[in-house]
Amino acid sequence: MTENSAASQSTASQPEPAGNNPATIYGAAADYASYPSLVDRAVFITGGADGIGSGMVEQFARQGAKVGFADIQADKAAATIERCGAAGVAHLPVFYEVDLLDIGALQAAITQAQDDLGVIKVLVNNAASDDRHTWQEMTVEYWNERLNVNLRHYFFAIQAVAQPMIDAGGGSIINIGSSSYMMQEDFFPGYAIAKSGVEGITRTLARTFGTDGVRVNTVLPGWVATERQLSKWWSPEGEEGTLRDQAIKRRIYPPEFAQMVLFLAADDGAACTAQQFLIDGGRR
Ligand SMILES: NC(=O)c1ccc[n+]([C@@H]2O[C@H](COP(=O)([O-])OP(=O)(O)OC[C@H]3O[C@@H](n4cnc5c(N)ncnc54)[C@H](O)[C@@H]3O)[C@@H](O)[C@H]2O)c1
Repeated sequence: MTENSAASQSTASQPEPAGNNPATIYGAAADYASYPSLVDRAVFITGGADGIGSGMVEQFARQGAKVGFADIQADKAAATIERCGAAGVAHLPVFYEVDLLDIGALQAAITQAQDDLGVIKVLVNNAASDDRHTWQEMTVEYWNERLNVNLRHYFFAIQAVAQPMIDAGGGSIINIGSSSYMMQEDFFPGYAIAKSGVEGITRTLARTFGTDGVRVNTVLPGWVATERQLSKWWSPEGEEGTLRDQAIKRRIYPPEFAQMVLFLAADDGAACTAQQFLIDGGRR
């Protein structure tokens, strides 16, 4: 396995399909790009304790970035930081324990992160919750909760980072979406509808900030094999259907997903804004 390999984040709760071993398919083979512009760059990631977010925290840290991340899961945050430490990163990520439903607390954490790490030049809006529910079960309270946990904090995190970013000459905002609304997945309407709104934030604010050097893009996972996905939602039939629909016939892992986010965060992505990038193995 190389220093910057993909297989460092365990997702072993369900066995891989036959012949699909991450260590041999992409682990040892993964020799990812290094981005000089990310060295010492301050990055803030929401939902960085677990899953895709944890993979992004690690991959940014491996690039030499100064990473701050917000989450409610302190134990998983500690494990993420420990993994980064074991990888020998230059700056250990800094954890901010925040419930993103509390916008005041989120914006205060971002202000604190600016003090701790410097002006945030990269914001990754990532935290979300894909709990299953039906349209019949929906109440006004649950609607508000679904929109708040999956969409509202994206806007207010941007509001907190934008002016310092503009004053510093620009930056990159990456909103993590979901292909679920495109695929017409109808087992979590509050989530899918909120995720379609992520695209609205990206398209609108990319125009708003275009002249300020702040880029705004969406990166959308298809099905990424996180611990939560494998332990909560995985089934043999579900996996069979996903692999049938994907052009690439294997699972996709969080560190692989992170590679597109790194590109957009780095100067290498300087001409990309207002776009959607799907990391779904060619499923859509
Ligand atoms: N994994 C997939 O297959 C998949 C598919 C489509 C979209 N996505 C998107 O990717 C992103 C990451 O998803 P994931 O699969 O890694 O999810 P995950 O559940 O594994 O991780 C989400 C993280 O967000 C945190 N979080 C949730 N609610 C929070 C709150 N109120 N306050 C603070 N932190 C909170 C969780 O604690 C967790 O660490 C999300 O935007 C999700 O919609 C994932």
